[in-house]
Amino acid sequence: MHLARFHAEPAIFVAPGRVNLIGEHTDYAEGFVMPVAINFATLAAISPRSDGKIVIWAENYSEEKTFDAAALPAKGSKHWSDYPMGVVAILTGEGHKIPGFSLSLWGDVPLGSGLSSSAALEVVTALAVLSLIDASYPGPVLARLCQRVENEFVGANCGIMDQFISANGKENHALLLDCRDLSFRLAPIPANVALVIANTMVKHSIAGGDYKTRRAESEAACAIINDHRGGVPFLRDATLEDLAKWGHEMEPKSYLRAKHVISEDLRTVAASEALLKGDMAEVGRLMGEAHTSYSKDFEGSCAEADLMVELANELPGLIGARLTGGGFGGCTINLVEQDKAKAFAEELGKRYEAKTGIKPEIHICHASGGAHRLS
Ligand code: GLA
Repeated sequence: MHLARFHAEPAIFVAPGRVNLIGEHTDYAEGFVMPVAINFATLAAISPRSDGKIVIWAENYSEEKTFDAAALPAKGSKHWSDYPMGVVAILTGEGHKIPGFSLSLWGDVPLGSGLSSSAALEVVTALAVLSLIDASYPGPVLARLCQRVENEFVGANCGIMDQFISANGKENHALLLDCRDLSFRLAPIPANVALVIANTMVKHSIAGGDYKTRRAESEAACAIINDHRGGVPFLRDATLEDLAKWGHEMEPKSYLRAKHVISEDLRTVAASEALLKGDMAEVGRLMGEAHTSYSKDFEGSCAEADLMVELANELPGLIGARLTGGGFGGCTINLVEQDKAKAFAEELGKRYEAKTGIKPEIHICHASGGAHRLS
């Protein structure tokens, strides 16, 4: 494809999407998350050009965009090219001189479904562009640069989780990340456990207002605790006792958002310990609690996702189910006994369609490795 279009042999890179097992809206509060890289990914093929142009072909959109490497856009324009061009802009800001190149992009991470297609696109572009100039960064640093693409170029106020797991995921493992110092530990996912991802088909976007509002509400609660006892710049530093003491001073919604975030950090660390011990029943139980907290206290779910979780709970083989990702739609993650996964997926799809009239996409996935060069 790249060769036929650009008449140059490319270097090829891949970066995965992700599903988060537990730890939602905790990353920007410097707390804990436990995502997994999945076997849906974005591929990038890159070759240098000598005419000073940056030409990007997106196979999924059948669209080509051309830029001048010497006159880069300073901000995004709400177009798919914001992600690759944001990477070029951030790397240029870091002092790299990026020459012209041809880039072909293709991906199978379902778009707008909360599986981090944008993070995969950023990370794969970063690897590809850095290869042109013989530069590289350690995975955690690469993830920070790609997060800045979202925050500074695209204009989405997201945390570090998605870019981090895309850059640093490990096959057959979940990654418990401390979003404060980016230290992490890996916990194996037992071979007899399948990751069943169920797309509600309700579109999810983190650029939308709800993500921002929830973040602001939880941060307002944090500020009140910090005013009282100091040392609480982020909800990571707050406790349930703090909430019990000063919760009455908070707007009711702020109180609930903070209750979710503080308790979610506790659940996420507990779930990682349970996973390390192979105690899947406990992991599942914590995922169930996390969904209730996400839905009732954070109000980050939607009727369709609540239904998808409820239906999953009725089916044989389920270990734990919850809405994953930024919220307000997108996918649920279901940990399911491997030998029951196929029947589970089929039955869940049927029951969801019968109740909603919407045909969901249900995928049986596994934990994949992080971004790397293919050839
Ligand atoms: C989106 C963001 C992440 C994180 C999640 C919620 O995926 O990109 O940084 O905040 O939502 O956990």
